[in-house]
Amino acid sequence: MANDTLSITDNRTGKKYELKIENGCIRAMELRAIKTDPEDFGLMTYDPAFLNTANCKSAITFIDGDKGILEYRGYPIDQLAEKSSHLETSYLLMNGELPTKGELDEYVNKITHHTYVHENIKSFMDGFRYDAHPMSMLGSTVAALSSFYPEAKHVRNLEVRRAQMVRIIAKMPTLAAFSYRHSQGLPYIYPNNDLGYTENFLTMVKSIGKPNWRAHPALVKALDILFILHADHEQNCSTTATRVAGSSEVDPYSAVAAGITALYGPLHGGANEAVLRMLREIGDTKNVPEFVKRVKGGDGTKLMGFGHRVYKNYDPRAKVIKRACDEVFEVTGKNPLLDIAVELERVALQDDYFVQRKLYPNVDFYSGLIYEAMGFPVDFFTCLFAIPRTVGWVTQYEEMITDSEQKIARPRQIFTGTRKRDYVAIEKRA
Ligand code: ACO
Repeated sequence: MANDTLSITDNRTGKKYELKIENGCIRAMELRAIKTDPEDFGLMTYDPAFLNTANCKSAITFIDGDKGILEYRGYPIDQLAEKSSHLETSYLLMNGELPTKGELDEYVNKITHHTYVHENIKSFMDGFRYDAHPMSMLGSTVAALSSFYPEAKHVRNLEVRRAQMVRIIAKMPTLAAFSYRHSQGLPYIYPNNDLGYTENFLTMVKSIGKPNWRAHPALVKALDILFILHADHEQNCSTTATRVAGSSEVDPYSAVAAGITALYGPLHGGANEAVLRMLREIGDTKNVPEFVKRVKGGDGTKLMGFGHRVYKNYDPRAKVIKRACDEVFEVTGKNPLLDIAVELERVALQDDYFVQRKLYPNVDFYSGLIYEAMGFPVDFFTCLFAIPRTVGWVTQYEEMITDSEQKIARPRQIFTGTRKRDYVAIEKRA
């Protein structure tokens, strides 16, 4: 459009500027031309936590937070959850199109044959304390993988980069399962190439005492759906951490380790762990109104699993998860905390405080209940998020590395500290 521009008058100087509007954005660098005098650095934007800043162009995942839409490469999340598998979805995310039968077979075969980790990783794991959090173990061992594959530093070589992407996706369930077994004091179980990705993972985690132990197919299916739901979510905190770390052209293992670290936090991937603790603390449906009152009272208590930076209508993943709950509980028996969760959701969604702030259940509100019903300890929940999100991290990493507009990430600051002053000898300090 001819008039897709923004006219700015700088009232400090009276000068007028015309900025191009593209994709609903102005380029922040164009503001630099707005100066009070030639010595002036130029205008910047101040945007703590990137509330209104696009850091990249991306063709991977589309979200419309107001309408509650989530699409991977154009395919709606509910269709993928119903019809696809995690590995097929991960091929789609990485390559942009759904695979043909031949392409899928080849991809699954590749992933299946990279699930083993170097034996030294086991001794490495043994070095952690018996009660180490599985997420710290996972982050450290993924970072350590870069020392096992030194060629990974050739980040601009497509073949080398793709080989590492496959390795990370393939090895993540093995590393997560090893960290679980370590925290339980159980022997590590090696991957079994006869099993699918999700079933193999469940077996490495759960198998004990029976060489032919098999996971219940309904639980394998439910976990695979949860993996699909968590595979990518555009520029969230951990993906941004991966992109920012990767922008220094560090290898993908190190960049993904940065993503894992970001995911560990309770405001991000740690939220489902926090939801379970909150539900236990509430203890009974009759205590729900009192708890909601406390949240509204402003003492800092949050309704964990509610609210989202982007979704302001509903989180489409939460809908799919609620359905998956029923299928899992049919096998495992109902999680007694479910009644409290349902009551909490009912009360909150009728309450002005939550309605006005557009706070709805997010993906984490119900996922923890499923994980607990499946017998995973709360500490392990975030690892169950990290396994599928690895696909998103490596795909976004590759998109960033191959984007000619990207450079090393390096934001600006507004300096608020003290300016130049002379050093004071220690004996002269007050
Ligand atoms: N409980 C109570 N109040 C809340 C909640 C909550 N869960 N979330 C937001 N609010 C309130 C805030 O206090 C704020 O109120 P105010 O306007 O009176 O100050 C208002 O709603 C807006 O919230 P912000 O914090 O500005 O929203 P933001 O986009 O920064 O935060 C976040 C999003 C971090 C997800 C937040 O909603 C939250 O902490 N939720 C609980 C943790 C959680 O469930 N995280 C999982 C996110 S999904 C994921 O990572 C997979």
